[in-house]
Amino acid sequence: MNRYSDTGRTMRLDPDSFASGYFRNAVYRHWDPYRDIPDELLEQDRERLIEREQTEAQFDGLRRTLALFGAGEEAVTEDLAPMCIALDDVDKQMFLTSQLYEEAKHTAFFDRYWREVIDPVAEAHGFEVTHPTDERYFNDSYVELFDRTEAAMHRLLEDDSSEALARAYCHYHLVVESVLAQTGYYGIQASWSPTGPEVELPGEPVHLEGLVEGITRIRSDEGRHVGFGMHEVQRLVAEEGVDPDIVQETLGDLLPLVAGIVDDPDNEVDSTYLVEYATEKLQRRIEIITDREAKIPPIEELVHVEGGRDVSAD
Ligand SMILES: [Fe+2]
Ligand SMILES: [Fe+2]
Repeated sequence: MNRYSDTGRTMRLDPDSFASGYFRNAVYRHWDPYRDIPDELLEQDRERLIEREQTEAQFDGLRRTLALFGAGEEAVTEDLAPMCIALDDVDKQMFLTSQLYEEAKHTAFFDRYWREVIDPVAEAHGFEVTHPTDERYFNDSYVELFDRTEAAMHRLLEDDSSEALARAYCHYHLVVESVLAQTGYYGIQASWSPTGPEVELPGEPVHLEGLVEGITRIRSDEGRHVGFGMHEVQRLVAEEGVDPDIVQETLGDLLPLVAGIVDDPDNEVDSTYLVEYATEKLQRRIEIITDREAKIPPIEELVHVEGGRDVSAD
C-alpha cells in the first residue's frame, strides 16, 4: 500500500478516461453568464422587442419558452446531486461537479434574461408583467416529466444499481437534456435568428442576438452532459448487463410527455416540426446507446443546431 492508501492505481486520476477528457473540456470552455453575454447585447434584444409589432399572445409565446427553459435548468441543478453520491469514480465525480456548476450558470442566464429583457418589454408594450414561475406556462406533461426525473434521480440515494443508474441517465441526460432541450434550442434558433431553420411563425421576425448567444454557450455545455449520459448508458448496457429493453421502455414512456410539452395547444406556433424533430432525435440516440460498437458523436455534433454557431470553433 502506498502512502496515499490508493491500492487501485498509483495516480489519483485517469487522464485517458472519457470523463476526465470531458472535465478538461469543461474547464477550457468555461464562460461567465454575467459578463460573456454583454449588457449591450441584452439591451439590443430589449430594444428590438420593444420596437417589434406584436400581440400580447405572441409575446407570451416567447415568455413560455423562456419560462420552461428557466424552470428546467433550475430543476436539473437541484436534481443532479444524488448521482454524485451514487457514482464512486473520481473522474466521473469531477465531471459531474462541472455539470452541476454549469446547470447553475444556465439557471442564472435565464433569470437574468427575464429581469433585463422580458419584464421591461412587457411594461413598454403595456402587457401584463408575468413571472417565470407562473403556473400558466407549465402544462401537465411538463410537470409530469420533471416529477418523474426528480424521482429517478432521488431513487439513486437508496438504489445505485446499474438499472437504477440507467433509468436516471435516460430521464435526465437523454430525455430532458438531450431531446427536450435540444428541441427548445432548435425552436429558438428558428424563431429568433435569421440563420435558423425556416419555419412559418406569427409576428414580425426579430433577431435576438443576446438570447441566441446565451443559448449557443449553453448548448456547448450541454453537448458534454448529453455525451456523458450516452456514454454511460452505452457502457451499462454493454458491460454491466443492463437490459436494453429497460432503456427503450424508459425512453418510450417519456417521449409522449416531450411531445405534450412541445405541442402545447395554447402555443400559436404550429409545432409539428418540433415534435418530428424531437422524435427523430430520440430515435437516433437510442440506436447509438444500444449498440456497443457505435461511437458517441463528438460534443459539437450532439448539440448542433441548423444555422447555429458552434462554440468549439471560437
Ligand atoms: Fe443546462
Ligand atoms: Fe445540462
